[in-house]
Amino acid sequence: MKYGILTSGGDCAGLNAVIRAIGLYLKRNVKNAEIVGIPEGYGGLIRGESYPLTEEDFSDILDVGGTILRTSRQPFKKMTAPEEGGTRLSRMIANYKKMGLDCLFTLGGAGTHKTAALLSMEGCNVIGVPKTIDNDIYGTDFTFGFQTAVEVATDAICRIETTARSHSRIMLVEVMGNKAGWLTLHSGIAAGAHMILIPEIPFSVDAVCSFLSARVQAGERYTMVAVAEGALLDSEARFKKEDRAFVRTELGESTVTRHLAEVIGERTGVETRYSVLGYLQRGGAPCAYDRLLCSRMGGYAARLAAEGRFGVTVALEDNKITFNALTDVAGKYKFVDPAGETVRFAREIGISFGDNP
Ligand code: F6P
Repeated sequence: MKYGILTSGGDCAGLNAVIRAIGLYLKRNVKNAEIVGIPEGYGGLIRGESYPLTEEDFSDILDVGGTILRTSRQPFKKMTAPEEGGTRLSRMIANYKKMGLDCLFTLGGAGTHKTAALLSMEGCNVIGVPKTIDNDIYGTDFTFGFQTAVEVATDAICRIETTARSHSRIMLVEVMGNKAGWLTLHSGIAAGAHMILIPEIPFSVDAVCSFLSARVQAGERYTMVAVAEGALLDSEARFKKEDRAFVRTELGESTVTRHLAEVIGERTGVETRYSVLGYLQRGGAPCAYDRLLCSRMGGYAARLAAEGRFGVTVALEDNKITFNALTDVAGKYKFVDPAGETVRFAREIGISFGDNP
């Protein structure tokens, strides 16, 4: 049996740990398992590139950040667009066959899953493993890489807090997460932020400033605000992402953080600064939780392959590893529930979401 592995989309901690678990399982449990790596995600499959992975490739990578297979973003929209030599999808299918693959493991996020579902519908044997720091993949409680990013962002917010305290400032810390607020919500609560702004709860500048001014009046000398990169003003919420992006680009911004820090400074009279955490959150070694989750998910994915169950993606549900049909989850996203337990609990302990609940 011949197995291909690729990692696609934005990287995160834990990709190598999943590759390792798949490899170790197959080498030990499937006779004559042949494993190949496909470089740079779907890019490598489109170009028809692959190379053998040996047991040696799987050693000493459990705690190594990034992906030994490298990755790339391949927009889903382009997969079926006609190009010279056929569509990217048709080239991938042809290369899957040419490589003689019996199964392809796709380690990736929501976009990767959409393409994986297409490949599966076209007859390729595909098994997905849900990766992303955004934790926005439908059908799994957690994605791998998320918890490491939570640890990194939490540590960063706590470090910035000590300087906020020294200078009696308001500090805004921008956290990644694309259109979902999971990373900001979890790291914000874990770091003790006083305010958390996430896309699922559009904020009002008035509500933000009155909360911050009330803290000043109560004698609080500093405030920490965790801002999701996708955070939205209530006035922006009714616009589509493209239209918002247009207005923001006109202002030279892609996120709201810098502008918001400026407005807060003017309206509260408190020195206000902001920091954008960026790719720190995707880099470096996976935390212990992710190493364990990746080992469980990778081993399980390989077992599914050995049992001949394809067209599925691995999931964590109620702390059990299971799977969903790719066609059931591809194209769907998982967002923070503004009325859910975590947000409710945060509000009950005094965290503001910048709205008027
Ligand atoms: O999906 C992971 C993520 O890091 C998002 O949080 C972020 O919006 C995006 O990727 C950044 O993408 P890129 O690596 O293309 O800059």
